[in-house]
Amino acid sequence: MPTYNRAPVTIVSGHGCELVDSEGRHYLDFIAGIAVCALGHTHPAITEAIEAQARRLLHASNLYSHEPSGTLARELARRSGMARVFFCNSGTEANEAAIKLARKAAFRRNEARRTTILACTGSFHGRTLGALAATENPKYREGFGPLPNGFAFTAFNDVSELERNLDDRVAAFIVEPVQGESGIHPADVEFLRAARRLCDERGALLIFDEIQCGMGRSGPLFAFQHFGVRPDVVTIAKALANGLPIGAMLVSEHVAQTFEPGDHGSTFGGSPVPAAAALAHLRVRDELDLERRVSERSTQLFDALRELARRHADVFDAPRGLGLLVGLPVRTPFEAKTIQAAARERGLLVGTAGGNTIRLAPPLIVDGEQIQRAVTLLDDCIVTLKSEPPG
Ligand SMILES: Cc1ncc(COP(=O)(O)O)c(C=O)c1O
Repeated sequence: MPTYNRAPVTIVSGHGCELVDSEGRHYLDFIAGIAVCALGHTHPAITEAIEAQARRLLHASNLYSHEPSGTLARELARRSGMARVFFCNSGTEANEAAIKLARKAAFRRNEARRTTILACTGSFHGRTLGALAATENPKYREGFGPLPNGFAFTAFNDVSELERNLDDRVAAFIVEPVQGESGIHPADVEFLRAARRLCDERGALLIFDEIQCGMGRSGPLFAFQHFGVRPDVVTIAKALANGLPIGAMLVSEHVAQTFEPGDHGSTFGGSPVPAAAALAHLRVRDELDLERRVSERSTQLFDALRELARRHADVFDAPRGLGLLVGLPVRTPFEAKTIQAAARERGLLVGTAGGNTIRLAPPLIVDGEQIQRAVTLLDDCIVTLKSEPPG
């Protein structure tokens, strides 16, 4: 179905930070399957883990335990300091689980009136009906009503509005520590700290949606570790298995017993092959010391993009973001989409995001030369676009 605005390119293979299309053209990939392929394409450790697991066991259902998902749950709990993990298959499902958990937690405390899920302006939490109800942008919601009720919005990064809106009807406040789809907007640390304090004072859960900004993209494995603010629930997906479908909701001890058997579930959630790939991802992350590398490459990328924005102040505003999730805002009459297409023609793949923004999310293994090359290619696009007569 025509649900995607696909570029006229058929990708057939990939290696590291490079993709190859059916015409044999090579691309430097600075979007990584929308912040998915953290270790790049066809990383041998991931491929080997998938092959080995596929030979042993593909599926057994959640009627039984199986080794990769149990080990992965323990690893994620250890690395996050959370108590329990629920596995599903995507980001939107992880958020659905978090919404259900928040309401059930209030219900179990005999606070059945406490049902509101408070989210932020500019939020994106997914496209199933619950996650969509928590997504503010009308572009995603229009025509799909009636959406489930019990959702409300408060201005992103506005502490005084949050003070007003986080009332005793709120079961949970859900926020992306770095908003992705709205144009790569990091939360202010004061905003997240205020959210933590208000949720504690007023009896609501704090949910961080780290589906795009988590799994090392902000630097540490979890974005909340960068901000130093601990949520009660964190949702992850995208990069977790470096390219296979998996999502997870991690919860802290005090809500760990909220779900009882039958309250929630998933046929494929935490399936052995994606779980094995995720374990390999975590192992390689440690071996490569990706946290340090992301910090170094991030500094290099931001410096180069600031310089690019200075050189083309009529086209770009200053870059924003965190780690290797970067937005480069484009000034009208220039369009992010036009720049994206021009970059693709030069062999560079970038994304776009809300508010006329170029989105850069390269594999976290990107090296210094590749960053330099990407920024040079962007510069080349702009020089050419400016030299062309309008229209
Ligand atoms: C912050 C955030 N939440 C949720 C989702 C939905 O994830 P999925 O597409 O895996 O359902 C996305 C996807 O872009 C996202 O960026």
